[in-house]
Amino acid sequence: MNTLLILSYLIGSVTFVVGLKMLSHPDTARKGNLVAAFGMLVSILATIFLYGHHGEDYSTKLIWIFGGIAVGTIAGWITAKRVEMTKMPELVCLFNGMGGACAALIGLMEYGANLGNTMSLATIVAGMIIGSISFSGSIVAFLKLNGTMNKPIRLPYYNIINSIVMLGLAAMSVWVVMTGQPESMAYALFGVAVIYGLLFVFPIGGADMPVVISLLNSFTGLAAAFGGFLYDNQVMLTGGILVGSAGTILTLAMCKAMNRPLSNVIFGAFGGGASGPAQDIEGSIKDISIYDTAVLCNYANKVTIVPGYGLAVAQAQHIIHELEKTLEANGVEVKYAIHPVAGRMPGHMNVLLAESNVAYEKLVEMDDINPEFPNTDVVIVVGANDVVNPAAKNDPASPIFGMPILDVEQAKHIIVNKRSMNAGYAGIDNHLFYNPKTSMLFGDAKDVLTKLVAELKAM
Ligand code: TAP
Repeated sequence: MNTLLILSYLIGSVTFVVGLKMLSHPDTARKGNLVAAFGMLVSILATIFLYGHHGEDYSTKLIWIFGGIAVGTIAGWITAKRVEMTKMPELVCLFNGMGGACAALIGLMEYGANLGNTMSLATIVAGMIIGSISFSGSIVAFLKLNGTMNKPIRLPYYNIINSIVMLGLAAMSVWVVMTGQPESMAYALFGVAVIYGLLFVFPIGGADMPVVISLLNSFTGLAAAFGGFLYDNQVMLTGGILVGSAGTILTLAMCKAMNRPLSNVIFGAFGGGASGPAQDIEGSIKDISIYDTAVLCNYANKVTIVPGYGLAVAQAQHIIHELEKTLEANGVEVKYAIHPVAGRMPGHMNVLLAESNVAYEKLVEMDDINPEFPNTDVVIVVGANDVVNPAAKNDPASPIFGMPILDVEQAKHIIVNKRSMNAGYAGIDNHLFYNPKTSMLFGDAKDVLTKLVAELKAM
């Protein structure tokens, strides 16, 4: 490998690490993304022009390569530019699936050329299988996120079927690699892995999707890392390992947030824990007017805002910041309570609120804010539902039972803003709305908060 190529890969690897580090804070995240993208560009160009071509005529291949890059860049650019903020999680999921598909295609293409080399075959098959699972699993996750596949699909004995398919896939891979089966078997493995990816994500229940999404993310990284190992390509290896390990850390964090052991995810037992009928809801709901909400908040010492998916739908991140500033100007202490799976992607609320320049210090994680609720005068829940649903704590029949939630019930007054009595992502009723301390402030979040801010300013 020539020195320039090694140097380019070094630049690529370093920018990936630096970029990832910069992503950990909203102030530097945008720049971090650009830094890593620059490193990726350098690595791609270096691979195209500096990789050993041994004097062969390369011009036809270059046309194909740049043709492919042009199509991918234009499609990716247009999609990313046009996508609404609320559709971002689906897009990320789809892009992740494409990464898995790339790894699977690399495996299919390289298999035949490496017959006879057991080590290379093992690397190829591992990358191909993990990539295929990530590809088909991400497509199902995409359909679940955009609402096309609303209910989990659970075949009878799905746990057992999934485990058998997974073990069968593992045994078949070992046999294919050890005996150097012909290329057609690589296609068969690909097919079974795609089916396993579907079976793996089909049964996952609504609120458990975050764990699966981050797991699929780490799968794609791992599959890419196998590609890097195969080609002895350091930058592909570094990139793959970074995605794989970051995805794994996120998966574990999500498991903790959902209070589910990882083994349940892998063996497809997810979301199946609910037993018996759901508890009946007693009590009635009561409305509150904008004026009364403004009075309640204005005379409070401490107000905590709980943002959820509805905030993103309404694009109310700017007006919520305005609300925070208005209350603070009147001497009220304001904080945001951030649940790890609020919204539809990891860090969704952080990204949304960073967009409107809410100070990062004001966003308080669930474990830190929960002890503060008993001393909070008013909690304003904006477009959040599952993450404040007490059924997670006291209804063993609920599909979200066991998931840690924001303990807003402990606060003195709870105001919930949403448009109707419709359920959240997990599709279940919420007893919080019937709590005597709760008042419902119905309406689109942006609309309601705009009127609330105007009312507060007029006081
Ligand atoms: P959800 O439980 O989905 O509830 C969102 C609520 O927002 C809905 O009940 C909806 O009620 C309301 N809403 C929608 N549009 C609104 C608008 N324009 N104005 C005001 N309210 C609006 O959200 P959450 O509490 O953030 O919980 C997230 C859920 O998604 C969890 O179940 C989580 O497991 C799941 N999930 C999360 C992720 C990640 S990684 N974060 C990924 C996949 C799934 P109305 O229709 O009545 O307005």
